[in-house]
Amino acid sequence: MFPLIRNRRLRTNETIRSLVRETILSPNNFIVPLFVVEGKNVREEIHSMPNYFRLSLDLLEKEVKELAKLNLKTVLVFVKVSDNLKDNKGTEAINPNGLMQRAVKVIKNAVPDMVVMTDVALDPYSSYGHDGILENGMIINDVTSAILAEMSCSHAEAGADFVAPSDMMDGRILEIREALEDEGYVNTGIMAYSAKYASAHYGPFRDALDSAPIEGQHVPKDKKTYQMDYHNRIEAIRETQMDIDEGADIVMVKPGIAYLDIVREIKNTFDVPVAVYQVSGEYAMIKAAAEKGWLDHDAVMLEQVTAIKRAGADMIASYFAKDVVKLLHS
Ligand code: PBG
Repeated sequence: MFPLIRNRRLRTNETIRSLVRETILSPNNFIVPLFVVEGKNVREEIHSMPNYFRLSLDLLEKEVKELAKLNLKTVLVFVKVSDNLKDNKGTEAINPNGLMQRAVKVIKNAVPDMVVMTDVALDPYSSYGHDGILENGMIINDVTSAILAEMSCSHAEAGADFVAPSDMMDGRILEIREALEDEGYVNTGIMAYSAKYASAHYGPFRDALDSAPIEGQHVPKDKKTYQMDYHNRIEAIRETQMDIDEGADIVMVKPGIAYLDIVREIKNTFDVPVAVYQVSGEYAMIKAAAEKGWLDHDAVMLEQVTAIKRAGADMIASYFAKDVVKLLHS
């Protein structure tokens, strides 16, 4: 008799489909990226990221209270630094009264149980728009790592729960972990951007922070000497293994949708929590197609975020976090 098994029985109606559903999104899965600027009452829309804003500290406070109401309890903070504070060494990054350090305090004051993660990399502070220090046309690894470790301690001092190094220097997780331990920040975690690819999907983010590499003689025009080559898979395992050995608490794959093979492989290989960053370009593509009326915004958004979780992400940094959670509630 044919067929004994009819898979369509389990798709008969929405109730049965939801009964057998394997992947369920929850507000707990999301990390909300936030862009912070100086000033008062500033809410600037990022032109390549429709409906996403840079916020001054007063509005940041309102924003995190609103996030908490939606049960979104983890944020990842980025700052836009004014040009006059930028230099090659990212000196401003370790200013105890810098914008990042103040932002952490504002968030912790407004919502004490908000988990605050801070971006650790020099690019927003670099006059060259690079994640590390430039010397003779090259990004110098070890000097950069030492500054990232100082920066991490400064963020921990301000109250960050996790530092999130996004720079891809070699050995920086160990350098940061040791510095945190030495300074007594034993409970400050590290979310390592372990498999971060040199991707063309970061363009809108660089608009948001005005942090794109500048054009100039002896300035590398891209980040390919430190971020990973997207032709590679095995290398992502090696990078992740090293970060775990050096003390990473959470590892990340970035970008998201074009790298789900890597996400699944990392999830299957390691036993630490895996984060995925659904990056600015992924956000922008959905927004643009929806604006043209070519795609159903909410449907594509939910499908892609769910696919990221299904691939193995325990948590997702996403500019869609609020939109998704509002839809889950409705
Ligand atoms: C830089 C950094 C980037 C992103 C997060 N941290 C951009 C880059 O590497 O040039 C990208 C995030 C996004 O595109 O949403 N350290």
